[in-house]
Amino acid sequence: MNIDVLLGLQWGDEGKGKVVDVLTPNYELVCRFQGGPNAGHTLEFEGKKYVLRSIPSGIFQGNKVNIIGNGVVLDPALFKVEVDQLAASGHPLTERLKISKKAHLIMPTHRLLDAANEAAKGAGKIGTTGKGIGPTYTDKISRNGLRVGDIQLNFEEKYQARKERHLQMLAQMGYEVDQAALAQAEAEWMEGVACMKTFEFIDSEHYINKHIKEGRKVLCEGAQGTMLDIDFGSYPFVTSSNTICAGACTGLGVAPQRIGKVYGIFKAYCTRVGSGPFPTELFDEVGQKMRDNGHEYGSVTGRPRRCGWIDLVALRYAVMINGVTDLIMMKSDVLDDFECIKACVAYKINGEEVEDFPFDIDSVEVEPVYAELPGWNTPMSHMKSEDEFPEEFNQYLSFLEAELGVNISIVSVGPDREQTIER
Ligand code: GDP
Ligand code: IMO
Ligand code: MG
Repeated sequence: MNIDVLLGLQWGDEGKGKVVDVLTPNYELVCRFQGGPNAGHTLEFEGKKYVLRSIPSGIFQGNKVNIIGNGVVLDPALFKVEVDQLAASGHPLTERLKISKKAHLIMPTHRLLDAANEAAKGAGKIGTTGKGIGPTYTDKISRNGLRVGDIQLNFEEKYQARKERHLQMLAQMGYEVDQAALAQAEAEWMEGVACMKTFEFIDSEHYINKHIKEGRKVLCEGAQGTMLDIDFGSYPFVTSSNTICAGACTGLGVAPQRIGKVYGIFKAYCTRVGSGPFPTELFDEVGQKMRDNGHEYGSVTGRPRRCGWIDLVALRYAVMINGVTDLIMMKSDVLDDFECIKACVAYKINGEEVEDFPFDIDSVEVEPVYAELPGWNTPMSHMKSEDEFPEEFNQYLSFLEAELGVNISIVSVGPDREQTIER
């Protein structure tokens, strides 16, 4: 059991990047298994801040090998931007990063299809990141995709055939394509492909399994969060991949019985970007205070994140689906100056209390049932050990552990690598 998985339990942006970076010294391989540049994983250390989109968050800690797995969708143009930024900040990657031949490529026309799909949905739009994620996964499933390994085969021919198909689809949707902008995007994309070629394309399933056989430890990094999972999230307001633990098996080619720890990461409260149900969302000054204290603005799109109290109905569901063995609570410091902390323990739907996450979450009126706990009213960002935790904070941790049935093994009290406390 040499593979551990770290994934988000809420609607994304829980702080996955930060914790993967913190845990990397314990591992030899760090692998992203799904999603694409819709992700924005933020890391802070030595006074600098980095945002990673497609590159795993294990690249800053020594010479660990990082892998972009087959389950990922990769945009060469954005990949190049990321690589160039990292190189400029003194982090060249060539030796440390390898890319699965089976990962799918996001084409410039996938982005246009993303925009066209959103426009067609009108008021019911998903609020996607606009990175072409949905159309690329759609092509993968409908067996029309273009893969990283194709770059080494008859690439030009395959690319053109797919592009033509996309342009026909866009015309059918009545979407007007700006040809000059597309030509510019294609030129950048081809430069991105050239950049990708400076990295090794591998059969990552063989590479990873060989390492596991040799007893080396692997950390799998999830993107997005369980409530955005294509099967189990708040459908249709979800992303287009399996963000859950099982996604690590299909997104890397590893067997379920190899998986050891499942780190489930959550914020001490709750946020969401884009549209869709969010039962504990706050529209008042309390929600605004969470947004201000937590700097809750998207790292990819800059959109203000919707904020609310922790939702234990959704979290219990996420713990169950993922088989979480260890919980990690992030952004505890954001609640440092709240008189009272609320936690949603059930939903009231049509006058009835419900504790299981409902199928029709999208269409029913949900009233959260809250438990109230005292706030700790103590700054926590400087704390180094759990011995310093205020009593009310320990009370909140114990309450959550009892509700979720899993121990909270790490608590984060600030964005920096150092502001991480193991319990
Ligand atoms: P990810 O997508 O799950 O990696 O999370 P993001 O990077 O999108 O969002 C998390 C944000 O919270 C980033 O800006 C982090 O720097 C920041 N962050 C992470 N942990 C903490 C914490 O414990 N306290 C505070 N205040 N900020 C944190
Ligand atoms: P990380 O990895 C938060 C959301 C979008 C939208 C929905 C579908 O940083 O936690 P998509 O572009 O994937 O088709 O958009 O999913 N979304 C995220 N929200 N964090 C993310 O990633 C997200 N990736 C996608 O806002 O609601
Ligand atoms: Mg993020």
